[in-house]
Amino acid sequence: MQYLYFKNGDAMPALGLGTWKSDKGEVYKALRDAFLIGYRHIDCALFYGNEPEIGQAFGDALKAGDIKREELFVTSKLWNNAHLPEHVQPNIETSLRDLQLDYLDLYLIHWPVAVQPTVGFPQNAADMLSLSQIPLATTWQAMVALKENGLARHIGVSNFSVSKIEAVSQQVGVMPEANQVEAHPFFQQPALLDYCKKNGILFTSFCPLGSADRPASRIHEGEPHLFADPTIKDIAIRNNISQAQVMLAWAVQRGGSTIPKSVNPQRLKENLAAADIKLSATDMALMATVNQDYRYIKGNFWCLEGSDYTFESLWG
Ligand SMILES: NC(=O)c1ccc[n+]([C@@H]2O[C@H](COP(=O)([O-])OP(=O)(O)OC[C@H]3O[C@@H](n4cnc5c(N)ncnc54)[C@H](OP(=O)(O)O)[C@@H]3O)[C@@H](O)[C@H]2O)c1
Repeated sequence: MQYLYFKNGDAMPALGLGTWKSDKGEVYKALRDAFLIGYRHIDCALFYGNEPEIGQAFGDALKAGDIKREELFVTSKLWNNAHLPEHVQPNIETSLRDLQLDYLDLYLIHWPVAVQPTVGFPQNAADMLSLSQIPLATTWQAMVALKENGLARHIGVSNFSVSKIEAVSQQVGVMPEANQVEAHPFFQQPALLDYCKKNGILFTSFCPLGSADRPASRIHEGEPHLFADPTIKDIAIRNNISQAQVMLAWAVQRGGSTIPKSVNPQRLKENLAAADIKLSATDMALMATVNQDYRYIKGNFWCLEGSDYTFESLWG
C-alpha cells in the first residue's frame, strides 16, 4: 500500500473504501470482508445514512482483533444542514457515536453549500441557506475547533474549488488539509490536483470508477461510460489487469488517494490490489488523453431556482 502524508507525518492509505450507497444490511458484511482483505481507510458520511451499521462493523472487528484503531483511517463529513457553528460539533459527535469511535482521522465539509438546519435534502430555494447568511469561513472556523479539541485529527473540505479553498484559508488562517472531489479518467482535474500538491493538501478522488450505481435522478442521458473507453480497455488487456484496476492504479500513481465503493468481495480484492500496480510512463501519458472534463456529479440539485446557488458559483 502507498500512503499520502499530512504535514505532521500522519499517513492516509492511498486506496480506501467508499460507502455511499452501500445499503443497510450489506455494508456491515462489506466492511468485515474489507478489513480481512486489508482495507484500513474507510470513507463515510453522516448523509449516507449507514454510519450506525459501519460503526457496528468497526466495533466487532476491533473486538475480534481484525483491526487496530491506530491502523484505521476513518473519514466522515459534516452535512450541509449543520454549517452553523453551533451545529458543527454536534454533527461530528453524532458520527463518532454512530461509528463507535472517539476521534476521526479526517473530517470534511461535505459540500460548499448550506441548507436549513431542519432540512435533509433541499427541495426548493426556501430550504437553502445562502453563503452570505452562513459564510464558508464561519463553518471552517468551527471545523478548526474540532481539530483543536481532538475530535478530528485532520480537517478538510470536499467539492471545493481552488478559489473557495483560498478564500476560507485566507479568512481563517488555516489551510484545509484535504480536498475530496470527483476525479476519474474522464474528469481529471489536473489544475486542482496540482494546486493541492503545491499546498500540501491531500487530494482524494471520489467516483473513481464512474459511480454506476448512482440514483437514476443523477444519471444523465448520453453520459460517457468509463468501462467502454477503448484506451482504458487496451491498457487493461496489455497489462493483464482489469479496467477498474487501470483507473485506480492511475488515480494513485498521479499522487492522490482514491475511495472506490464496493460491497462485492471479489471486487473489493481487485480494487485494493490496484494500489500496488504500477503503470508505465507511456500508459500514464495515454490516460491523460482520455480526459473529457466530464463531471458525473453535477451538483445541480443545489442550484434551485430562486436560491443564490448557480452551477458557476458552486464550482467557481
Ligand atoms: N464527497 C462527496 O461529495 C462524494 C460524492 C460521491 C462519492 N463520494 C465517496 O466516494 C466513494 C466512491 O464513489 P461512488 O461510490 O460514487 O462510485 P465508484 O466507486 O466510482 O463506483 C461504485 C460502483 O462501481 C462498482 N464497482 C466497484 N468496483 C468495481 C470493479 N472492480 N469493477 C466493476 N465495477 C465495480 C460498484 O458496484 P459493487 O458495489 O456491486 O461492487 C458500484 O456500482 C463513495 O462511495 C463515497 O464514499 C463522495
